[in-house]
Amino acid sequence: MLKTHSLIEPQDLSVEEIDHLFALADDIKNRPQLYVNACAGKLMGTLFYEPSTRTRLSFESAMNRLGGRVVGFSDPASSSATKGETVADTARMVSAYADIIVMRHPWEGAPKVASLYSDIPVINAGDGGHNHPTQTLTDLYTFHTVFGRTCDLNIALCGDLKFGRTVHSLILAMSRYKNVSFSLISPKELRLPDYLLDFMKEKQIPYKEVEKIEDAIAECDVLYMTRIQQERFSDKDEYERLKDCYELDTEKMKLAKQDMIVMHPLPRVKEISTEVDYDPRAKYFRQARYGMFIRMALILELLEGGYQPKNTRLVPTERKCSNPRCICNHQDEPQQMLKIGEGVYRCLYCDHTEKD
Ligand code: CP
Repeated sequence: MLKTHSLIEPQDLSVEEIDHLFALADDIKNRPQLYVNACAGKLMGTLFYEPSTRTRLSFESAMNRLGGRVVGFSDPASSSATKGETVADTARMVSAYADIIVMRHPWEGAPKVASLYSDIPVINAGDGGHNHPTQTLTDLYTFHTVFGRTCDLNIALCGDLKFGRTVHSLILAMSRYKNVSFSLISPKELRLPDYLLDFMKEKQIPYKEVEKIEDAIAECDVLYMTRIQQERFSDKDEYERLKDCYELDTEKMKLAKQDMIVMHPLPRVKEISTEVDYDPRAKYFRQARYGMFIRMALILELLEGGYQPKNTRLVPTERKCSNPRCICNHQDEPQQMLKIGEGVYRCLYCDHTEKD
């Protein structure tokens, strides 16, 4: 059984627990008939306040393939969120009906809030530009399946590193593995947030920041492409200016190692030319399929945590989170800017960090 009741951020799982999930996912992939009734009688609530193809459908496929059932919504307009119901109350309600919650939300920290009030496990299926831990499990499981290891990797992350939640979670997760280094390829406007640059410095993870794919592609084992996240931009002109800043094509692929792989959480827009799809190093569609097996393993393990009554009552901090995308600035959740060092504060919900 996992130590955590919910999966909200990548560090909720230890390296040993992730290895266990890999082994279980491998077995599910190889012997699916053994698991067809593994979740019989269990119900998953999928609460998607933002669009999704892969995450929602892979979770729903996973639960159906395990013999469980699914209820939920894929459009918040059809839920009581339109009447003003909070994430906390929705989580309390779904706890009364289902056995596990999968939540995607545009506000950063929303699944964390749900986990504080839900009596059943909550899985973060992506919260704004913050985290996407099950995409990270998918990415790690892809490394495990393709390379047979999750260490000794140079990973080039390319695109929208500011708002790309999959990138943020991947860095946090990979910080626990040996001999991992990063190339951060982005325009200046879309650099990785400071809290993650500080995190890499603190963990002594080697990284370099560059603006062109050509400055990193030759040395990497993984080129992890990302979409420019249109929906997160407050300045639409800036999005128009940056939206086509990268295109991986067959010419650039000639600069890469023969055993390097291209990954992408998808959806792709124009950042990978479709001609690259036919290069055997392009793994993004297989990566999406691996996501279903690792999510099956995760569901099985989290369901063992079962029903755990919560009665959370947080004391608000005086300092307020200044992240406009944080749930505490949209709903009546107590501010939680916790002191993490001399003059340094971090929001419990969204990880936004401020210094005096
Ligand atoms: N990778 C991913 O999160 O895709 P969706 O937005 O389609 O779920």
